[in-house]
Amino acid sequence: MEVVLVTGGAGYVGSVVAEELVRQGYRVVVFDNLQQGHRQAVVVGTEFVQGDVCNVADVEAVFQKFPIDAVIHMAAETVVEYSISDPARYFRTNVVGGVNLLDVMLKYGVFKIVFSSSAAVYGEPESVPIEESHRTVPVNAYGESKLLFERILAWYGCAYGLKHISFRYFNAAGATELLGEDHRPETHLIPNILKVALHRNGTVSIFGTDYPTKDGTCVRDYVHVVDIAQAHVLALKKMGSLRGSVYNLGSGTGFTVLEVVRAAEEVVGEKIPVKLCPRRAGDPAVLVASWQRARGGLGWKPQFFELTKIVEDAWRWLKDHPYGYE
Ligand code: UFG
Repeated sequence: MEVVLVTGGAGYVGSVVAEELVRQGYRVVVFDNLQQGHRQAVVVGTEFVQGDVCNVADVEAVFQKFPIDAVIHMAAETVVEYSISDPARYFRTNVVGGVNLLDVMLKYGVFKIVFSSSAAVYGEPESVPIEESHRTVPVNAYGESKLLFERILAWYGCAYGLKHISFRYFNAAGATELLGEDHRPETHLIPNILKVALHRNGTVSIFGTDYPTKDGTCVRDYVHVVDIAQAHVLALKKMGSLRGSVYNLGSGTGFTVLEVVRAAEEVVGEKIPVKLCPRRAGDPAVLVASWQRARGGLGWKPQFFELTKIVEDAWRWLKDHPYGYE
């Protein structure tokens, strides 16, 4: 049985990836420092190690204990806005932490890695949908840190024969039966809208109404977290026979912030009060993926195209977990 290490496996996307791997018969080791991840999100049937990628001894302990065959590296600092005020933290965790992991992998003879990158590597796109060949000029340190690590992977590939795939996620959303989105603090749009519907918050702040989009609010591509998880399993299966190493994961359709609010109103069946606010630092106006490369190379196809279905899943999970994983 193939043993897969999932760093950040107690986080939102990481836990769903771990769940999908277990379902498909992999032995899964979850490694997470539990700063953003939750002990309750560690999937039954996985083995859990608490540790930090910034601490080489923590990483090495995992490789000593388990016969790891491949790594899915998702442990990261992820909030775009904070990356602007505190870039050091982002480069330390997302770049230095990643290099620690690679060096331990090589020491233990592990040559396969799937990396969680981000649409944030593109910055402000010149054309949409964004293809992987689009120029990469990040507008925040988060995106820069992800791009740097993609490049490090390429150099490790050339020099040491590391096999690597980077997935540039667009906006992960939705939930599974047991696992959902619970960040502290929550900065993401869909959970913030749904918290208002649950009466945990009074209004949703709409960050920016003067973007060059149809209603002045930012356009994003929401992709179901289960679709993202399935791409990771395909990557493990096909790694080695793939030509490209960088793939977008998105649905190919963009929605404005106000359209997402309206979709949520439809799902919850009530009006959701909004408050119009200034722009948030570091937000590109439009991010919409072309996912044709993932289709051709991996045979990946998103199953959940409808925004209301994605919001419905997030809503069901939040109603079951009104205080998240607490
Ligand atoms: N937004 C609001 N109000 C909120 C929260 C968000 O108006 O309460 C807006 C944001 O300004 C943005 C859009 O809704 O325009 C989506 O914001 P999210 O915070 O949900 O997601 P981001 O697009 O900022 O970021 C997400 C991931 C990043 C990734 C990026 C790439 O969190 O890791 O998608 O698309 F880099």
